[in-house]
Amino acid sequence: MNGTVRLDVDFNLCARDGLCARECPFGLIEVDAEGLPSLRRAAEKMCIGCGHCVAICPRAALSLNGISASSLPAVERHALPEPESVTLLLKSRRSIRAYKPEPLDRREIEALLNVARFAPSAVNSQPVHWAASLEPARTRELAGMTVDWMRSVPDMPYKGWITAWDQGQDRILHGAPHLVLAHAPESARWGQVDCATAVAWMEILAAANGFGACWAGIFTRAAQHWAPLKAALNLPEGHVVQGGLMLGRPAVRYARVPERHPLRLHWL
Ligand SMILES: Cc1cc2nc3c(=O)[nH]c(=O)nc-3n(C[C@H](O)[C@H](O)[C@H](O)COP(=O)(O)O)c2cc1C
Repeated sequence: MNGTVRLDVDFNLCARDGLCARECPFGLIEVDAEGLPSLRRAAEKMCIGCGHCVAICPRAALSLNGISASSLPAVERHALPEPESVTLLLKSRRSIRAYKPEPLDRREIEALLNVARFAPSAVNSQPVHWAASLEPARTRELAGMTVDWMRSVPDMPYKGWITAWDQGQDRILHGAPHLVLAHAPESARWGQVDCATAVAWMEILAAANGFGACWAGIFTRAAQHWAPLKAALNLPEGHVVQGGLMLGRPAVRYARVPERHPLRLHWL
């Protein structure tokens, strides 16, 4: 954490079960002869603020950096979906490339992002930031800037996409009303993976909520390379777009799960 880290223990609530000490990924909690936990000095440098110590305590006896367990949402185990439901959701999710013109409202997009922010990140660094277009006209403008980039690249393999755009067809963002981008500081060690993970969560959540989404790979490339587009996105200094999604209300429904490669696995 490289700063002050504080673990407060409510001695009346603590069951002296050592769960928090066992759970700390870096072994930064010690337990005294009476079974009471406290932070080791190394925590100042090594605590990643993952909150596992607080989250695992069944008695809500701990606070980390002033955030008490009792202020955190409880895990309602009975409300979790059955494995079959999750499997069905994952297999039936499809990349959506046809959208109804009605946009989502700001709260619907924020609600998805407010779950995606719980995606895992390397050493709990949480480097992911989001940028999103609310207005369909703005989304279209950004798609157009991707086409500008395509026109600027000699031997661009996507010539057909440029022709399609000129004929009124958007093969970049497929007429989606929104674009949602995950960006991170260039210096973030696992920035690309952390952003991709969060975007994948976002796509699944969109499907779970009956929305449509599709990875915007071409747009992401353009956002990494085309200065006018980078400028239009107005990201913080040193940030890079590492992934993004088209988003909207689907105008299509899939009746079947298409086949994929069989499992390729070798045991180690
Ligand atoms: C990193 C990544 C980038 C992608 N970029 C695009 C894209 O720019 N345009 C597009 O139409 N689909 C894009 N896709 C969607 C893939 O084409 C799609 O996932 C694949 O064909 C499988 O279809 P499914 O997602 O319905 O299973 C991308 C997917 C990923 C994972």
